[in-house]
Amino acid sequence: MDINGKYFKSYLEREDAFKKQYNADRIKKQHAKGKLTAHERIALLFDSGTFEEIDAYVTPSDQGVEFGKIEMSYGDGVVTGHGMIDGRLVFAYAQDFTIMGGSLGIVHARKIAKIQEMALKMGAPIIGINDSGGARIQEGIASLNGYGIIFNNIIQSSGIIPQISVIMGPAAGGAVYGPALTDWVFMTSHTSYMFVTGPNVVREVLNEDISSEDLGGAETHARKSGVANMIYDDEENTIIALRKFLSYLPSNNLENPPVAAYDNSTPDVNEKLRDIVPDDPNKAYDVRDIISLIVDRNSFFETSELFAPNIVTGFGRLEGKTIGIVANQPKVLAGVLDIDSSTKGARFIRFCDVFNIPILTLEDVPGFLPGKDQEHSGIIRHGAKLLFAYSEATVPRITIILRKAYGGAYIVMNSRSMGGDFNFAWPSAEIAVMGPDGAVAILYRRELADAKDPVAMKKELVKRYREKVANPFIADEKGYIDEVIDPAMTRRKVLSAFTALSNKSVKVPSRKHGNMPL
Ligand code: HXC
Repeated sequence: MDINGKYFKSYLEREDAFKKQYNADRIKKQHAKGKLTAHERIALLFDSGTFEEIDAYVTPSDQGVEFGKIEMSYGDGVVTGHGMIDGRLVFAYAQDFTIMGGSLGIVHARKIAKIQEMALKMGAPIIGINDSGGARIQEGIASLNGYGIIFNNIIQSSGIIPQISVIMGPAAGGAVYGPALTDWVFMTSHTSYMFVTGPNVVREVLNEDISSEDLGGAETHARKSGVANMIYDDEENTIIALRKFLSYLPSNNLENPPVAAYDNSTPDVNEKLRDIVPDDPNKAYDVRDIISLIVDRNSFFETSELFAPNIVTGFGRLEGKTIGIVANQPKVLAGVLDIDSSTKGARFIRFCDVFNIPILTLEDVPGFLPGKDQEHSGIIRHGAKLLFAYSEATVPRITIILRKAYGGAYIVMNSRSMGGDFNFAWPSAEIAVMGPDGAVAILYRRELADAKDPVAMKKELVKRYREKVANPFIADEKGYIDEVIDPAMTRRKVLSAFTALSNKSVKVPSRKHGNMPL
């Protein structure tokens, strides 16, 4: 084609118009807030030069034009397309706040829906970068309908492809449900917020003053609501972490996670593991010190770190293969199970299960958190989610009881009877209906009340209870666990157990779906 010919000239002119539509003042404003533009974010996210934009020249619906204030921009305020991350196909959209505040009109919505449908068809992850004033006010019901299409697509793709939301600006009103429906939510601190109703409405309706940051900033959602799984200080670090995070996941539910190159200097037998759990059962320790000695060196990626830290969840690798880890954290609330830790654990387990990620459970749990607050807020219903999630999971499941494994909490944490494939215990394990002190106080209440020296008597009874009931050797000898192992051998045992389970296949009877307590 003649480069000076009429048609090619039109092509170049349109390309020029596309570039010129980006208003320098708005970009400056975006940068001044510490935010990048949609194209800058996309460039950071994908392997250099691999992103292909789709529908860049589509123009907004004229539905709202009669009302005015519709910018006849190309692309309608959202960048959509596909590219490679670590050499693997990923689809993405990034809302462009510099065009009509990234607001979602019907054309914008259709672009997102098209990318969602392509990602599903191709079996590739989808990442949505959200930075939007929400439903485009001028378009009325058309934009609400657009949200409905997007939400429905997310739900239809759930459990088939990983769906990740990144919040890098406002996400308000019903628009928050898009990210909430996806598997993971990343947020950038101080520049992003999510709420169903903003501070103005809160002030009007409840007469309460609260800032956007306190109501729905990244810290709030990472620590309090659990809506945000991962938060980072700036956009660049958010995207770097997201790229790393993706490396643990398969592209879809029919694939296994990719096998990464790993540091083979991680010792399979490590005596340091013998010294982490203190002799005194009331002393705390950080279970992450144990995790980091079991998985490949530097491979642990903690998820939802700030929410319900009494349970630790995250991905790690064993000889390059992804596993999911669920561990009670004795350092926080003695590792007790409460509402938040139960739902955090359950959701993590379900993600691992749908994406073929084997689960390693490290158990040191004194029980469920007692009290009115927990009971009235539904610890029964929420704790049941954890039971349901474990029992339903068909991926390989291994448990190591490190120390306390009491009562219902013992059963919940992937016990043999709940379908755990291999259940090991360290010699420090205490497996029983309850802790020795509580058990003796109930069983010998009258005798202790009548005793001349109740303190000495209790001490003796506690010792006997430990010897006769609450130790792992009894559980081992009666066949309730597979083996009491030397802590130093843990990585080796886990590696060979997961190898033994690598072809695990479970036939689930046909049903529409179970009725998980919600
Ligand atoms: C159309 C919008 C818009 C919207 C922002 N803009 N939000 N245009 N529809 N929803 C436009 C502004 O008019 C402005 O245009 C430009 O985007 C930048 O916005 P500013 O207000 O200048 O930016 P800033 O000061 O940073 O404030 C950002 C903001 C504010 C807090 C998001 O714009 C805002 O409150 N917007 C409305 C938010 C909202 O109520 N959305 C509906 C939520 S309900 P100009 O031309 O001046 O540059 C919802 C329902 C979803 O989304 C339902 C799903 C089921």
